[in-house]
Amino acid sequence: MSFVRFLGTGSYAPDRVMTNLELERLVETSDEWIQTRTGIRERRIAEPEVATSDIAYKASLNALESSGVDARDLDGIIVGTVTPDYLFPSTACILQSRLGAKKAFAFDLLAGCSGFLYALQAGKGIIGCGDAQNLLIIGAETLSKITDFQDRSTCILFGDGAGAAVISASETPGILSTCLGANGDEWELLYMPGGGSRIPPSEESIKNRDHFLKMKGKEVFKEAVKALESSSLEAIRRADITPGEIDLFIPHQANYRILEAVRKRVGLPEEKVFSNLDRYGNTSSASVPLALDEAVRSGRVKEGDTILISVFGAGFTWGAAVVRW
Ligand code: UT7
Repeated sequence: MSFVRFLGTGSYAPDRVMTNLELERLVETSDEWIQTRTGIRERRIAEPEVATSDIAYKASLNALESSGVDARDLDGIIVGTVTPDYLFPSTACILQSRLGAKKAFAFDLLAGCSGFLYALQAGKGIIGCGDAQNLLIIGAETLSKITDFQDRSTCILFGDGAGAAVISASETPGILSTCLGANGDEWELLYMPGGGSRIPPSEESIKNRDHFLKMKGKEVFKEAVKALESSSLEAIRRADITPGEIDLFIPHQANYRILEAVRKRVGLPEEKVFSNLDRYGNTSSASVPLALDEAVRSGRVKEGDTILISVFGAGFTWGAAVVRW
């Protein structure tokens, strides 16, 4: 088995900013409520003609540039997303064509907000067993396309964005540990009813607003805290380190109250947590790679640092990883 390292990261978010004040004009809410209950001030929204592969492409170019890897040398592309361009073909195939990554295999992976970590785990396994040298892994979402801007309990939370990373075979350890989990018993707490084979598009499904995501926020909140805590501690245990050895914690950017609860339970000081939630909201699969790229580019992550990342999302799915930078 080969070691696997991050070679570079990249991210991209649409230019258009939607503030809480703008949401006040759409639903019965307030900037004060949103900031107090979630920590979010604004989010990015893709223009109507922009699809997930468009923003994933820009994040990928940034990741390739920072890693020094040519797209033609990629062996595979894995995209974690709940908002693919189409049900098929995969967004990864569309991206493979645009990048000119001729020798790369390409597939999408559906794991709710945990998509990037599931992609990391899959990529680590594929490289580790010697079947690939360089992989591009991506979390990218245009959640605004499936957000119901008449539902104040969800529309205040979500935003659009993409994060990408090149991971490669290495002689020294990079990804020290990973762990994944799922609990399908709770799938109805966070899902989109329409558009699949259960409720195909119809006049009725559109009338029922079935093509927008539905969430029972309070229940999801409790499960998120528990799973983020347990997977973070498990990843730390598997990496054979202590919480005190973590230099930076990059949790799923869902709600600052969730981040705070998890931080305390894992036993980390405030200054060791990275958050850009206030500027992007919850971008699902893109949340962790977008934050990771910002942390790297702003100098919060330095060579040799030990980073903890953890995610939670629809399914339910969750996971965590400890990475030596
Ligand atoms: O990435 C996937 C994981 N997703 C998450 O992690 C989301 C987890 N959940 C959450 O972040 C929180 O549950 C929310 C932010 C969605 C909601 O916060 P909450 O503290 O759980 O509020 P709540 O649902 O218990 O609602 C409290 C009150 C209710 O009013 P009443 O019944 O007390 O009169 C809601 O109707 O707040 C009301 N409310 C709002 N008020 C103003 C709900 N949404 C809003 C809103 N503006 N946008």
